[in-house]
Amino acid sequence: MQHLLDIASLDKTQLQALLDLAAEIARQPRGYADRLRGRFLVNLFMEPSTRTRMSFETAAKRLGMQVVNFHADASSAVKGETLKDTFQTLQAMQPDAIAVRHSRDGAVASLAATATTHVINAGDGCAQHPTQALLDAVTLQQVFGAVAGLSLAIVGDIRHSRVARSDVELFTRLGMTDIRLAGPPAMLPVDAGGLRCCGSVDEAVAGANVVMMLRIQRERLGESEQPDGERWFSDWGLTSERLARAAPDCVIMHPGPVNRGVEIESELVDGSQSLITRQVANGVYARMAVLLCLLDGAAAGLSD
Ligand code: CP
Repeated sequence: MQHLLDIASLDKTQLQALLDLAAEIARQPRGYADRLRGRFLVNLFMEPSTRTRMSFETAAKRLGMQVVNFHADASSAVKGETLKDTFQTLQAMQPDAIAVRHSRDGAVASLAATATTHVINAGDGCAQHPTQALLDAVTLQQVFGAVAGLSLAIVGDIRHSRVARSDVELFTRLGMTDIRLAGPPAMLPVDAGGLRCCGSVDEAVAGANVVMMLRIQRERLGESEQPDGERWFSDWGLTSERLARAAPDCVIMHPGPVNRGVEIESELVDGSQSLITRQVANGVYARMAVLLCLLDGAAAGLSD
């Protein structure tokens, strides 16, 4: 593997290696300590992040790597330096890998096209968030044994969600056939690709094994497009009453950050059906697997 840019570019062997390795690391994380000692990761995040950036840093440090974090607000980007020049400057410092987050769809892939180091997509615009999809798949496999055969309801601002896009691609490849989408028309994908679009949360969650709640991506909306939070919760929020329509074994997922009382009732975030903190824990293992596959493919079961 040279880069991790999206789910579609992973062949079957690479995808299986990543999922198997992440699951194995989750079982015995200490077994992988220092496996990439002496290697160097740069986190180039041009959009805010808590989970993904900290998770890449934690993953890299658990593997013995050194990490340098780029802080956009304190960088020469504020003096007008372009993303390409910023990337080339950091690449000249010879990191082994650069994890990039950017607000523009395709920005990370365009950097990777001429990169001489490994590039990892840590989220680009509304397009892709491949490491989130990997950690979500690992989490579902831990809980249910397999992704195939599960019914999934995705509720919220799906149109602007790179998480939803990457998850749907990955879960479909893993054999999931029942995926329902629910949200106001302006928040549903322009092309739902044959997935079932529902007019209410009740309809979407009925009988579902997994309910994935998404926040309103306010940073991608104009001033006049911003929904009111209270109204949103009333129309599209997940409540205990609505969740009661799901399958008895139903779990709740959310990529974070969560807006309690907007897309989900606060008690459900902390409740026994919530996988939200488990998703975060698995994020470290999934990103350790990505770094190992990119930087030590042979050890990860892939040829370098
Ligand atoms: N899930 C996710 O990408 O969260 P952050 O924006 O905090 O990284």
